[in-house]
Amino acid sequence: MCGIIAAASTRNVGKLLVQGLHKMEYRGYDSAGIALHQENSIAHLRALGKVQLLEDMMISEKPKSKLGIAHTRWATHGEPSEVNAHPHKSKDKVYIVHNGIIENYIELKEALVKDGYEFSSQTDSELIAHLLDSFLEKGNSMIDAMYLAKEKLEGAYAIAAIDIDNNNSLVVARNKSPLLLGIGTDEILAASDPLAIGQLTNEFVFLEDGDVAEISAESYKIFDENKKEVEREITNIDISSQATSKGDYKHFMEKEIYEQPEAILNTLDGRVGGDDILDNIFGLGSSELFAKAKRIQIVACGTSLHAGRVAANWLSSIAELPCQIDYASEYRYRNPHVDENSLLITISQSGETADTLAALRYAKEKDYLGSVSICNVPTSSLARESDFVLFTNAGPEIGVASTKAFTTQLAGLMLLVLSLAKSRNLNPKLRTRIITALRTLPEVINETLALKEKILDLAPAIASKDNALFLGRGIFYPIAKEGALKLKEISYIHAEAYPAGELKHGPLALIDEDMPVIALAPESEIAEKLVSNLEEVKARGGTLYVFADPSVKMDVKNGAFISMPKCDFFLTPIIYTIPLQILSYEVALLRGTDIDQPRNLAKSVTVE
Ligand code: M6R
Repeated sequence: MCGIIAAASTRNVGKLLVQGLHKMEYRGYDSAGIALHQENSIAHLRALGKVQLLEDMMISEKPKSKLGIAHTRWATHGEPSEVNAHPHKSKDKVYIVHNGIIENYIELKEALVKDGYEFSSQTDSELIAHLLDSFLEKGNSMIDAMYLAKEKLEGAYAIAAIDIDNNNSLVVARNKSPLLLGIGTDEILAASDPLAIGQLTNEFVFLEDGDVAEISAESYKIFDENKKEVEREITNIDISSQATSKGDYKHFMEKEIYEQPEAILNTLDGRVGGDDILDNIFGLGSSELFAKAKRIQIVACGTSLHAGRVAANWLSSIAELPCQIDYASEYRYRNPHVDENSLLITISQSGETADTLAALRYAKEKDYLGSVSICNVPTSSLARESDFVLFTNAGPEIGVASTKAFTTQLAGLMLLVLSLAKSRNLNPKLRTRIITALRTLPEVINETLALKEKILDLAPAIASKDNALFLGRGIFYPIAKEGALKLKEISYIHAEAYPAGELKHGPLALIDEDMPVIALAPESEIAEKLVSNLEEVKARGGTLYVFADPSVKMDVKNGAFISMPKCDFFLTPIIYTIPLQILSYEVALLRGTDIDQPRNLAKSVTVE
């Protein structure tokens, strides 16, 4: 999704701004641009497509500047095009970059048009440049103009702005869209993502909603929503030491799949002791709070929601708690009734997903016991705004398709379920059984990763089709959904998932030689019923690819039967996810898609 970087420096900033844009490419984008202050003019370059194209323009034009703003755009209002790319400008004087959505843009645009402003793009962002210009024209400073603009703007935004009359400083503003400052040796920076400036500094200042900051090469000033100058804490994070290179792998996604044994170890590290879960692993006082929980509400999006669906099953079986689960984008709009002693759980890799954050903020106004988040990014808004957090410690996930983030979320959610069960004095023997199984999980994942050669044999048959059906039952239905999501997002093959028992109620009509069926058949009390469902597919000439426990008896002639390693039933969803990730990756590789940055998608979805 959109990315902002801005810098005021004692040296040339063009190259470092473009390097910052490269670091944010993983977020997904369709165009890129830069505006560089050159004393009497502002160099303005924009390119549709990859950041590399913008970099090529920079190499040929060689603009020199010590103050600039740059952006990668992910289209919301207006198609991906050069003219819609940021920075946007007003009269060659004011240049802005914007992340987020201005909800009242039509009415603001109409007023600006009446005042004589001409719009050249279809974006909601361009009006910010004109609005700032209209206030600067009346003699306001850029800081004052930004506050006046903020009074008019409705929606979410992170903005960085420069104007022709000031080659010393730039101004940024944040409201419900991430923005932080970085204190470098030769410059002060601003960015929407710490990864963009992690090579230049370890010192970050996270702005709060309502903040406006003025940045020059040597100093910065932050003002809060009431325009009062404030000090915000400086956080030290060594981002450059966090692995953000592909190493010997072809894609980040591939690397992240094979990092899972270590990632899971990191999720478990320091959280289990002896044969039980440790107390207060979600923060001081969390165990006490968990003892009061009578009901759970989960909200999340995409892959994180699938993790939540598995957890809902675990909550019922292990912690004996009822659980309601909602798409974060829907939760606020169904007038949710909150029972007494309900706990809110949000799940997010990035911790910046706008829908999930909006759901959390809405829920905080309701009568929940508290909010708990499972998150991978310690500096994220979700982590900072939740009452209790467990970091999954998966390390940066760069591939748009979630892999290690999902399996570590599942491990983190299991820790949550065990914590709730312990606080409620429930199922001690089962807890010990699961803790023992968790300790061997990284080994079992390694065994599962070793199935790659067998999965490679299946990939061509799936890659040549346009559709696929994923089947699972019970706790494996969300894993089937995750398998279908993975395949569709990176290979662009249409894929759907069903609980296998539902097949005969409609989807069976789709079965023919062009509809591969990928099924999950672990050892379970309903294994035989699942096999009967799969026989229905066989009987209609369908091709079956079954990932199954060796004990499952099934004769697959048309397709393949792959035996899975053994592990405790409650952890099998984690294990059965792995071959589906590898399969999607290998299929996408055969189809030659842009695996790490699939078309139309963004890693961190910061608009609602
Ligand atoms: O950062 P989050 O976990 O909140 O992101 C939620 C979804 O956007 C994300 O899981 C998305 O579905 C992935 N691309 C799936 O691979």
